[in-house]
Amino acid sequence: MKKILEMKNITKQFHSVTALKDVSIDLYDDEILALVGENGAGKSTLMRILSGSYAANSYDGQIIMNGKKQKFSHTKDAENAGIEMIYQEISLMNDMTVAENIMLGRMPQKRIPGFVDWKKARQIAVEALELVGLDVRPDELVRRLSTSQMQLLSIGKALMRKPKILVLDEPTSALTGKETHTLMTILRDLKSRGISCIYISHKLDEVFALTDRITVLRDGKVINTYTKENLQPDKVIEDMVGRKVENMYPKVHVQMGEEALRVENFTVPSSIPGKNIIDEASFSLKHGEILGIGGLVGAGRSELINAVFGAIKKEKGEVFIDGKPVKINKPTDAIAHKMGLLTEDRRASGYVGTMNLRENISLASFKEISKRGFLNKIKEKKATKVQFDALNVRAPSIETNVLNLSGGNQQKVVLAKWLMSDVHILFLDEPTRGIDVGAKVEIYDIIFELAKKGVAIVMISSELPELLAVCDRFIVLAQGRIRGKFSREEVTEELFMKAATNIL
Ligand SMILES: Nc1ncnc2c1ncn2[C@@H]1O[C@H](COP(=O)(O)OP(=O)(O)OP(=O)(O)O)[C@@H](O)[C@H]1O
Ligand SMILES: [Mg+2]
Repeated sequence: MKKILEMKNITKQFHSVTALKDVSIDLYDDEILALVGENGAGKSTLMRILSGSYAANSYDGQIIMNGKKQKFSHTKDAENAGIEMIYQEISLMNDMTVAENIMLGRMPQKRIPGFVDWKKARQIAVEALELVGLDVRPDELVRRLSTSQMQLLSIGKALMRKPKILVLDEPTSALTGKETHTLMTILRDLKSRGISCIYISHKLDEVFALTDRITVLRDGKVINTYTKENLQPDKVIEDMVGRKVENMYPKVHVQMGEEALRVENFTVPSSIPGKNIIDEASFSLKHGEILGIGGLVGAGRSELINAVFGAIKKEKGEVFIDGKPVKINKPTDAIAHKMGLLTEDRRASGYVGTMNLRENISLASFKEISKRGFLNKIKEKKATKVQFDALNVRAPSIETNVLNLSGGNQQKVVLAKWLMSDVHILFLDEPTRGIDVGAKVEIYDIIFELAKKGVAIVMISSELPELLAVCDRFIVLAQGRIRGKFSREEVTEELFMKAATNIL
């Protein structure tokens, strides 16, 4: 085993925040190293230093590759040294095609300078798509891809540059089952071809199965490094959160009330005539009830709740709130009826990047914190601070800009927005995506608190154990249709998967 990379004594400050304190890590040839730690522990920051996103003069410490000191002042420098990074927040050009994104900045030229060799570009694109098992056309616009397809595309794009070190920052947070499996196979294959990986994930099962060594960060410091041989999963979790986590899924049972929401015959058309994204879906739930929506990626789970919320157009379908029919044609109609939606993609529709935490958290609560149409600043500050503390958001204050937060903490801010507003019906699309193990338990507690207050909750999660543990009742979608309805008592993982794959 040869050491190919050393990051030595790295210290990184952001104004008053010390994100990394004297951190050292090593990477050997043909190994997969995991970096784990709580939200805000410093994982992404450390990798942004490695990828040249943060220039060499913005931190203390050294990067040494194959014994040679490196000073990256730009991502291009790191790329040239053979380092590719897949960022936590997908960064693709939405209005360009798949092929253009893969080739971005390195379009093959014809012999006459200035002319792009489109045939070759297409060939390379097809190769990249095949490598990651992504079934889309090279000339498809990236905007039209799903989040998971975009994630696979980013990975395919990075691999085309033949890196020596591949860094993946939560690559599977938007992937499920089959796609995750494909990715694991790709990474193992890369390893056997001498490409090393640094892998960041909150999904510890994956980490334990895939990686050769695990380095735990907490509060910007290295706490411990485990090898496959001395690995103790409970110890890793304890090192991450700084305490013992006894029960991952403490279910709280709540007295349910009357019917809060009924959805009847929802149908959402697709761009293909005669084929619907959602077909005649009906369900209902009571105050205090938590309804889980299951299904595979692409089954129509997000589309269903987005359509009910008025965020995407339906062809037909009725909504009844507290037994009365209501018209919901756009999200503001839904909000007026005290509905909330935590979206799957926090960057596209979750938070406003130009705003600070206070403004983001209070975004859906104008009525509650204003008087005769004027915002009551003192009330706003107080109410947002309560949420900020309750969710344990890691940031200097509520005046911090949301873009300066770690990925998981941004997710908490979006959640806080709906918690603070006076919602009666709340849709949660992957509420714990990118959230660390300790904070997940905190979020379940908050969901149960809301249910106790009588809020009717619809939750989507691709983590089946989580969904089964948190919800009272389940519907399972496959190809846009409801294929299974189960109570908490009767459901099993097997029944669930059978319905999701439509073989009941
Ligand atoms: N641009 C920035 N400006 C100010 N503070 C920042 C900036 N980027 C990160 N931080 C802070 O540095 C710390 C480490 O953040 P980082 O994003 O590295 O965490 P992480 O381990 O990747 O967390 P997560 O699991 O939530 O993605 C956090 O306290 C974060 O708020
Ligand atoms: Mg991160």
